[in-house]
Amino acid sequence: MTSTYPYWVAGRAATGEATVEVRSPYDGSIAGTTTEPTAAHVEQAVAAADAARAEFAATPAHVRAGALDHVSRRLAERSEEIAALITAESGKPLKWSRTEVARAVSTFRWGAEEARRWSGTLQRLDTDPAATGRLALVRRAPRGPVLGIAPFNFPLNLVAHKVAPAIAVGAPIVVKPAPATPLVALLLGELLAETDLPAGSWSVLPVPNPVAAELVADPRLPVVSFTGSVPVGWAIRDTVPRKHVTLELGGNAAVVVGPDQGDDESLAWAASRIATFAMYQAGQSCISVQRVYAHRDVSAALADRVVAAVRALTTGDPTDERTDVGPLIDEAAARRVETWVDAAVRDGARVLTGGGRDGADYAPTVLADVPATAQVLCDEVFGPVVVLETVDSLDEAFDRVNDSRFGLQAGVFTRDLQVAFRAAQVLEVGGVVIGDVPSYRADQMPYGGVKDSGTGREGVRSAMEDLTEERVLVLTGLAL
Ligand code: SIN
Repeated sequence: MTSTYPYWVAGRAATGEATVEVRSPYDGSIAGTTTEPTAAHVEQAVAAADAARAEFAATPAHVRAGALDHVSRRLAERSEEIAALITAESGKPLKWSRTEVARAVSTFRWGAEEARRWSGTLQRLDTDPAATGRLALVRRAPRGPVLGIAPFNFPLNLVAHKVAPAIAVGAPIVVKPAPATPLVALLLGELLAETDLPAGSWSVLPVPNPVAAELVADPRLPVVSFTGSVPVGWAIRDTVPRKHVTLELGGNAAVVVGPDQGDDESLAWAASRIATFAMYQAGQSCISVQRVYAHRDVSAALADRVVAAVRALTTGDPTDERTDVGPLIDEAAARRVETWVDAAVRDGARVLTGGGRDGADYAPTVLADVPATAQVLCDEVFGPVVVLETVDSLDEAFDRVNDSRFGLQAGVFTRDLQVAFRAAQVLEVGGVVIGDVPSYRADQMPYGGVKDSGTGREGVRSAMEDLTEERVLVLTGLAL
C-alpha cells in the first residue's frame, strides 16, 4: 500500500485537487502520492511567512533549538522508514539513503547547537576620545522570509540545509522540494508539525517549477536559497538582483594524486575512494569525482586499481542493501550521459570499463584519453563517469583543476604538508580536501563554490550568517 502525503501550509497539513504520483526511477513503482498545492494555499503560505517575520525573529532560542533537537531525534527514530522513502522516490541505493538520513540528523542537531550559541559580539568604541564610554553590540537579524529550493539528489539533507539554519536564526521559510522527490520533504513536515514553532514559520509546497518562478519573484520572500542546476541558479540571481540569493550549483570536481602515493596502501586508499565517490548515487552529487589528475609516477598503477574497484561495484536494485550504484533520476538523465560519453569516444576517448545504458541505469564508467574539450571533462556529468588523466607535475595538476568554469571542492592525495598548503592557496574552489576525495562534506563545515558553482555558503553556521545581516546597537555613557 502506498502512502499519501499532505503538503504543509503555515505548519498545517493541506491537500489540493490534482494528485501527483511519485515513481521510482528504478522500476516505475509508486513511491507515494501527494497533491499539487492550490493557488490559494500558496498565497496563504507566503502571507503567513511574511506575517510571522517579527514574531519568529523574537522567538526565544530555547524554542527554536528545542524544535531542531526534536526533528533531529525524530529523524533518528524513524530513520529506516525515511531511508526507504528516499530510495523509493529517488532510486538512491539504500546504503546511501541511510547515510543521508544520518547526515540530516546531524544537520538538525547542529542547527540546535548553533541556535543556542547564536549571540553576537561586543566591539569597544572608546578607541577615539569622542566615543569614550561607548560600546557596540553587534548581532545578526534575519534578512526576512526565505524561499528554499531543493534538488532531487539529496532530497532530505539538502532540504535540512535550508530549514535548520532558517529556524536557528528565526527566519520563516517556504520550502519547494524537487518535483521528482517531494515525499521525504513532506514527511519532514510531519516532524516539524510536532514542534511548537509559530504557525507561519514554515511551509513545504511541492509546487511545479512555473509556480516556483512566481515565488522567486514574490517580494515577501526577500531571500532565495537555491540548490540545483547552474543555468537555473544564475537565471534566478539575474531575475531578482535586489534579493539576497544563495546558489549552490554544480561542478566537475577533481582529484589530484601526488607522486608520493605509489605505495600499496596509498594506491589502494586513493583508488577505492575515487571509485566509490565517482559512482555513488550514480554520480548525482555536485562533488562526485569527475576528473582525476594523477602524477605520471603513479598513474598507471592507480588506473588499474580504479578500474578494478569500479568493476567490483554492485549495480542494480537500490532497495537491495548490497547495491552500490542504482539508476539515475530518470531515463532522460541517463540518455544525456550516454550522449556525452559516446561523443567523447567518437573523438578518441578510451572506455577502460563501463559504458552502456539500460533505461535509467548507466554503467559505472572510467574513461581515459579524453579530448580536452569533451563535455565529460568540461561540463558537469552528474552521472557515474570518471575521467583519468596523467600529469607530469603537481603544478600541471593544479592548473588543470583550475582550467574549469566550476570551483566547488577538490581533493588532493598527498602526505606532503607543503603540497597541502599550496593546494589550498592555488586551487580555485570553495574547499580543498587533503588525503581524500572532493566528495567529502561534513554538514557543519562551510560548503559552496566559486565561479559558476555558485555564491554564498551553506553548512549550518555559514548558512545562518548568510540568512542574516549585522545589526549594531550602540550603548553610550558606560563605565568600560
Ligand atoms: C551537493 O550535491 O551539492 C551536495 C553534496 C553533499 O551534501 O554531500
